[in-house]
Amino acid sequence: MLDSWMYVSRATTPMGSLDDVLIYLAARARNREKGITGYLHREQDYYVQYIEGEHENLAELRSLITKDTRHTDLRVLSQGAQSRRLFDGWDMAFSTGAGTGFAEYRTHQGYRADLTSAAEAEILEFMKASIAGGRAHCVALYLPEVAGRAI
Ligand SMILES: Cc1cc2nc3c(=O)[nH]c(=O)nc-3n(C[C@H](O)[C@H](O)[C@H](O)COP(=O)(O)O)c2cc1C
Repeated sequence: MLDSWMYVSRATTPMGSLDDVLIYLAARARNREKGITGYLHREQDYYVQYIEGEHENLAELRSLITKDTRHTDLRVLSQGAQSRRLFDGWDMAFSTGAGTGFAEYRTHQGYRADLTSAAEAEILEFMKASIAGGRAHCVALYLPEVAGRAI
């Protein structure tokens, strides 16, 4: 059975720190191995993540993420059975940085929005638009301190 999980949480590390790179690299490797796909977005002090995968694998990852001290105040936005993958092929899409934010995207659409009070559907729409617009991909494209280095 395919399950999904979405949450918003508050980062305990500064925006632009190498922790995000380490999270991204660990996530990509482990998710590939466990058949997990999804999207992680970092915006200032907040993370929002959507993950999907087989029930057991997702439950295991949920527990790892929940215990991770690199974030806190985790608030679940949705969880449950899913009939198909929304991020097929993305071991972990990732976006962060200027010009790729949720608030900017929503404002551009004519809405007032803030990540901490947004609904699941609004966030999913943003994630899909980021992928469609080529704004979500590899962390090297978005973190200046690692851009150009082989990771
Ligand atoms: C915001 C955030 C998102 C994360 N997303 C994932 C993920 O999608 N997949 C993953 O394996 N680990 C993810 N992690 C890391 C896990 O919490 C955990 O550190 C990692 O899976 C441990 O892997 P290891 O025991 O194999 O080193 C995330 C951590 C944070 C803080």
